[in-house]
Amino acid sequence: MILAPSLLAADFLHLEKEIEMVNASEADWLHLDVMDGVFVPNISIGFPVIRALAKIALKPLDAHLMIVNPEKFITQFRDIGIQTLSVHYEACTHLHRTLVQIKESGMKAGVVVNPHTPVELLTNILDETDMVLIMSVNPGFGGQEFIPQSLEKVRRLRKMIDDRHLPILIEVDGGMDMERTKQMVDAGVDVIVAGNSIFNAENPLEMIRMMKRI
Ligand code: DX5
Ligand code: ZN
Repeated sequence: MILAPSLLAADFLHLEKEIEMVNASEADWLHLDVMDGVFVPNISIGFPVIRALAKIALKPLDAHLMIVNPEKFITQFRDIGIQTLSVHYEACTHLHRTLVQIKESGMKAGVVVNPHTPVELLTNILDETDMVLIMSVNPGFGGQEFIPQSLEKVRRLRKMIDDRHLPILIEVDGGMDMERTKQMVDAGVDVIVAGNSIFNAENPLEMIRMMKRI
């Protein structure tokens, strides 16, 4: 299982220290949430902050764009050194073109689905996709309650991917604690994003170690 701590839950007054914690941990990726106040009712971090943190982050950067018109910014994210760029199904009118552009730029291309979006709508886009991110909360905020139907969505997507023998990773994001992580891994998830359960733990390094042992 790939574990991606979500920086949204970190202490932004001490970002350097928080990133060094992730660097020193057993986490695999660093998950970055980018919000524009339009696609979601919140605003998070933008290019100046991401550019600065990318200089010291040692783990591959997994950017989750909760923004409209994400295709406008593909080159900028590539130049910063993002490894996987994920865009929302609900934010892309021409999703096929956007995914192809992300891949042509040299990054891995991810598609994110909101809780209300059935995974079956991805049938005609899976060939262009390196990763599908299933939101298990409504995007925009950390620390929300896990939506139970996400588990069933993961199972259905796992079957779609396996039936077609596609090398696509399944990622899940929102409300992930130890118990949910175990259920999700059993259901076929490859990548777990966790914000509050890691950064608000008494000992984040130990929490990462425990989640990796699941
Ligand atoms: C929510 C973000 C998540 C968020 C998860 O819009 O996509 O990555 O940080 O936070 P937790 O793990 O606290 O639910
Ligand atoms: Zn996220």
